[in-house]
Amino acid sequence: MLSIIAAINENYVIGKDNKLPWHISEDLKRFKKLTTGKTIIMGRKTFESLPSVLPNRKHIVITNNINYNYDNDNVEVVHRINDVLKYKNCEDEVFIIGGGKVYAEFLPYCEKLYLTKVHSNQGGDTFFPKFDINNYEIIENEKNDSGNIKYSFLTLKLKYHI
Ligand SMILES: NC(=O)c1ccc[n+]([C@@H]2O[C@H](COP(=O)([O-])OP(=O)(O)OC[C@H]3O[C@@H](n4cnc5c(N)ncnc54)[C@H](OP(=O)(O)O)[C@@H]3O)[C@@H](O)[C@H]2O)c1
Repeated sequence: MLSIIAAINENYVIGKDNKLPWHISEDLKRFKKLTTGKTIIMGRKTFESLPSVLPNRKHIVITNNINYNYDNDNVEVVHRINDVLKYKNCEDEVFIIGGGKVYAEFLPYCEKLYLTKVHSNQGGDTFFPKFDINNYEIIENEKNDSGNIKYSFLTLKLKYHI
């Protein structure tokens, strides 16, 4: 099963200058909790934006560059959409972790979306794809407005299998 995990703001912004536009430590903790021990799939740009290979996770990095290589047992480089779509049939949950291009390609195939909805309107250069929330059942909606950045943890489950 494929799931998406993403932090998006009111304008669907997810990134700026190949970085996250905000720092929300609770969001990073949730990301770690949900993805530790799992397979995470990402575009080459998101992979290069990580501070390092994330511990206890298998990384799948998609790129068109057939010479792209990364010498680490926990990193696999793939080149085709089908190399990612095969994880739809996995019993275990496999996470698409971004960025914008990869979310847009795989959103239709993801059964669950773990979103951190950042309640801000700041600009950016990378966006989450627009989607119809009516296609999803809301299984978690927890608002956090104690810090200076307000956000909600929103978990959505696709209503219909594709
Ligand atoms: N807010 C969040 O939750 C979140 C999460 C992740 C990332 N981000 C942000 O998103 C931004 C990066 O996103 P992005 O859209 O620029 O890049 P991206 O989706 O991370 O990576 C795009 C790259 O992935 C490769 N790729 C994608 N689809 C492919 C396909 N079908 N076949 C082969 N290769 C494919 C290509 O690599 P090549 O160019 O090598 O061919 C493409 O240039 C950063 O700002 C990052 O911080 C935000």
